[in-house]
Amino acid sequence: VQSIGVLTSGGDAPGMNAAIRAVVRKGIYHGLKVYGIERGYEGLINGIFREMSLGTVADIVHRGGTMLMTARSQEMMTSDGQRKAADQLRKQGIDALVVIGGDGSFRGAQTLSSQGIPIIGIPATIDNDIPGTDFTIGFDTALNTVIESVSKIRDTATSHERTFIVEVMGRESGSIALHAGLACGAESIIVPEISVDLKEVSSKLLRGHQRGKNHSIIIVAEGAGSAWKIAEDLRLETGFDTRVTILGHIQRGGNPSALDVVIASEMGAKAVELLRSGQSDQMTARVSQEVIGLPMEVAYGPRKPFNYDLYELANQLSI
Ligand code: F6P
Repeated sequence: VQSIGVLTSGGDAPGMNAAIRAVVRKGIYHGLKVYGIERGYEGLINGIFREMSLGTVADIVHRGGTMLMTARSQEMMTSDGQRKAADQLRKQGIDALVVIGGDGSFRGAQTLSSQGIPIIGIPATIDNDIPGTDFTIGFDTALNTVIESVSKIRDTATSHERTFIVEVMGRESGSIALHAGLACGAESIIVPEISVDLKEVSSKLLRGHQRGKNHSIIIVAEGAGSAWKIAEDLRLETGFDTRVTILGHIQRGGNPSALDVVIASEMGAKAVELLRSGQSDQMTARVSQEVIGLPMEVAYGPRKPFNYDLYELANQLSI
């Protein structure tokens, strides 16, 4: 390949900028032309390309969001849109594409590959729901944001002796809830992967109260049901004063953590290496400390396994 395009697509994730920088700089290091494509597939379909230089990615490694901007493109889901996207790449003389995003973005990429354009996916989503990789870019930063927010909530929860139900993101995945719940010592973690009996949660809260605990934190994954309903049910069961906090998009912002920047840099560089060695239809994956290429199908295969051991540990530690 002589010339590659890079875009970010789907929900933004902290560390996307570090991945863009790595693709651009690694590409230029090897003498390739690198084009940034704005607003994900929207920009691709409309031919919004800009040639990247070393300087265009200066001062972004530590910033959240994505300098290329992103979109959830409806048009890329149509065959007309997919054809236009491939035509634009050919017209611009771009030989291959790196897509930074979640599995929906990878599906868009594969429609280009079936039209003969080599593609590599870099998994970036705070949800950490892409099979094959231990981490997706953005997950670690989102966890840190949740932990920081919960520690603030704890101050007010303690002062008023309240039970807080904190809803976190993750779509159908309970990964953010599980890891953040363990890391902030939540009394209970409610995730879509495991059905919980709210009566048990209530008894745990009551036991804690009898032991002298004056506040409780319950982490609920957004895919596990309504935080408001859970709060009301727990209030009725326990008689405790409950409050709901929905952390929302705060989890998508902020400077990326060291781990996210390191993974993003490794993955960006790996994507360029894969293209240079003639590979396509691969995603970068971090597996046991190493960044490797895996067939992109892995991303659409069986769901990423839920970490039941960690869930059990969190339960034992919050007894
Ligand atoms: O996939 C990332 C994510 O933040 C999910 O956790 C959440 O369900 C969704 O995106 C929200 O999407 P939007 O920003 O389009 O509302």
